[in-house]
Amino acid sequence: MSSQQIRSFLPRIVVPILLLLAIVSDPASGPANANTLSQSTPVLNEKLTPALNGADFKPDVIYQVVLDRFFDGDPSNNDPPGDKGLFDPTKTNWKKYWGGDLAGLTQKIPYIAGMGVTAIWISPPVENVHKLVNGTDAGYHGYWARDFYHIDPHLGTWADFDRLVAAAHASGIKIIVDFAANHSNPNDTGEFGSIYKNGVYQSTYNNDPNNWFHHNGSSTNPNDQYNSEYFNLFDLADLAQENPIVDSYLKGAMQVFLSHHVDGFRLDAVGNMPGPTGGWLRTLNDTITSQGPHYAVGEWGGLTGPNDPRYGFAVRFANQSGNAILNYPAYFALDDVYAQGHSVKELDSILSQEEHDFTSLNDQPNFLDNHDVSRFLTLNHSKDALHEGLAVTLTAPGIPIVYYGTEQYLHNDTNGGGDPYNRLMMSSFDTTTTAYTLIKRLAALRQINPALAYGTYQQRWINNDVFIFERQFYNDVVLIAVNKSATTGYNITGLKTNLPGGNYNDYLHGLLTGGTGIALNVGRSGAVSPLTLGKNQVAVWQHTASEPVIPEIGSVGPELTHPGDQLVIDGRGFGSTSATVEIGRTKATVTSWTQHSITVTVPQIAGAQYDVKVCLAGARGTCSNIYKTNIDNGKQIPVTFTVHKVPPTAPGDNAFITGGASELGNWSTTTTTAIGPMMDPNNPTWFLMVSVPACKTVSFKFIIIHVDGSVKWEGGSNHTYTVPCSGTSSTSYVWQP
Ligand code: NOJ
Ligand code: NOJ
Ligand code: CA
Repeated sequence: MSSQQIRSFLPRIVVPILLLLAIVSDPASGPANANTLSQSTPVLNEKLTPALNGADFKPDVIYQVVLDRFFDGDPSNNDPPGDKGLFDPTKTNWKKYWGGDLAGLTQKIPYIAGMGVTAIWISPPVENVHKLVNGTDAGYHGYWARDFYHIDPHLGTWADFDRLVAAAHASGIKIIVDFAANHSNPNDTGEFGSIYKNGVYQSTYNNDPNNWFHHNGSSTNPNDQYNSEYFNLFDLADLAQENPIVDSYLKGAMQVFLSHHVDGFRLDAVGNMPGPTGGWLRTLNDTITSQGPHYAVGEWGGLTGPNDPRYGFAVRFANQSGNAILNYPAYFALDDVYAQGHSVKELDSILSQEEHDFTSLNDQPNFLDNHDVSRFLTLNHSKDALHEGLAVTLTAPGIPIVYYGTEQYLHNDTNGGGDPYNRLMMSSFDTTTTAYTLIKRLAALRQINPALAYGTYQQRWINNDVFIFERQFYNDVVLIAVNKSATTGYNITGLKTNLPGGNYNDYLHGLLTGGTGIALNVGRSGAVSPLTLGKNQVAVWQHTASEPVIPEIGSVGPELTHPGDQLVIDGRGFGSTSATVEIGRTKATVTSWTQHSITVTVPQIAGAQYDVKVCLAGARGTCSNIYKTNIDNGKQIPVTFTVHKVPPTAPGDNAFITGGASELGNWSTTTTTAIGPMMDPNNPTWFLMVSVPACKTVSFKFIIIHVDGSVKWEGGSNHTYTVPCSGTSSTSYVWQP
């Protein structure tokens, strides 16, 4: 409970006193003795979800760290034996190791926790190439793996990794490991793609008798599915996930990380691995959730937005594979608007579109910059602009990611500040910067007011500079106002809100306006009294409702589960006594029940998309909203389906598979529900890797969906296929005329 919340519920005469109090109290850490206030008072200091909830990262703030560039906590590992010559103690060669490590990050957990951060995404910690690539570059960034079962010696040991996870968890911080399953390392230099398992040699790109790799050359067309998935990304030796040895190698390595208690994964290059819309990456969900609920987010680099030819696939990946996706389209808009002077309308338009397209936009992470793009401050040196962009990133629908050093205004503008100049050494750990305080306050708000984690998005007032938007989850409301003009203040008239009538102080307490912040006066009808939003001003007003009588579901996760898995339902108003959770028409067995979080076991029901509902005992009318969840028919096996002699297709026509299981689209015939598109590098033969249920017999047909949506069905009777119980497989057919 923060002072400005109290203010809105107390008679106006008390306000001056509270304003005085407000000057000395930090709104991010409220007093603990105010729960005797009116019934509108929120539950104090109760976090939205239990700490370390692996199914639900929506209330979190993620901090992204390039381990080698964060903090050197153990100089003894800087130039490790067996791996000498990749370290530059002068930190002038940007493509060598600079000394940062797991021990260093562990030492800085208090600094990160102090910022309100509740999750850290670490760069890939696995052992990278021991040799310089092209004679110059080391794998300091982590994306050039040689052994997915070892920790890179520059970063430390498994013991150091365990100490990091333990220290993070003790501070309520989750650890997300970056996992690059698409490739090993450059195929044509350094270690030539060589891959090891726990130190034991497995294969090399140019001597690959067991087919660990695809041998198709470099990808040239990111918009072509086959070219992206089955060719090398740059010159990176492309792993053949359809090979059962590779499949079990990669999934086994993820199991090792899970056994070291990581909370989630950032999946590198998902657009470059087979079957992003339903193939290998969907089978990966089994691994990710195999040791309880965990979160995974895929990286589809450079995805611009609805006009990007890959946008539909990316949305489908996020809605159906069990994994979230980094919100690159929103990044481009944030960057255009706050760094490059575009109208705010561009951002509103992409957020509105995405809210329509994604089943859960609140699950997709937002970011202002990262290690692959120029830092925000390189593009725009204005700290005001950075604060504005950060405030929007931390409150827009989706999980915010803050790139390390943003809070210290870190940037190096050499060559436009892109890779590697965006990966500079963390310079300072000042906990008093405005950016650090801004992140801390908005991270605290994400924890107490569920509107940010679970709420809807609505634009409330806009011109080219001013962006006022509202987030709402039932009676919980947050209103955010940002004026990015460095020269012009605006009078805001005609503003409406769903905040209850009353007076509100700026939750940021004037951090980005000066003074004590802009007060908001809301009439009974939600009409806001005219106010002035000065140049470069940002204000946030919020109402956290009391615990509701009718339960409200804000999150059901993991996004994709199987019968027998744990499913976590988060929200408000669940009460303290266990009652009923229905998945479709089946009551699920409850394994734990608290006011804000319920865990159930997914019942033995057929794979489908189901409605989840929480109903309290007793009186009628006490059921929650429904929330959709995807359930599969059990463990998944990646199987490559091939069909020969497909009838001729016109440009834009594609072959798909449809069949009698949720994994095969339940006989549906649209491009977003049937499985595909298949690929035809050897037309008229088409193929696709599909995620299908282990040990089950599935029936299906191949279809052509024409560019106009009309469908051509295969003739004859249905094909049937019995899926193996483990490994990977492939199966071939001839189109039945
Ligand atoms: C995307 C990563 O973010 C980038 O840094 C890396 O180079 C490529 N994927 C390849 O792993
Ligand atoms: C694949 C393309 O995506 C599709 O549009 C086209 O019809 C076929 N290739 C033609 O071979
Ligand atoms: Ca070190």
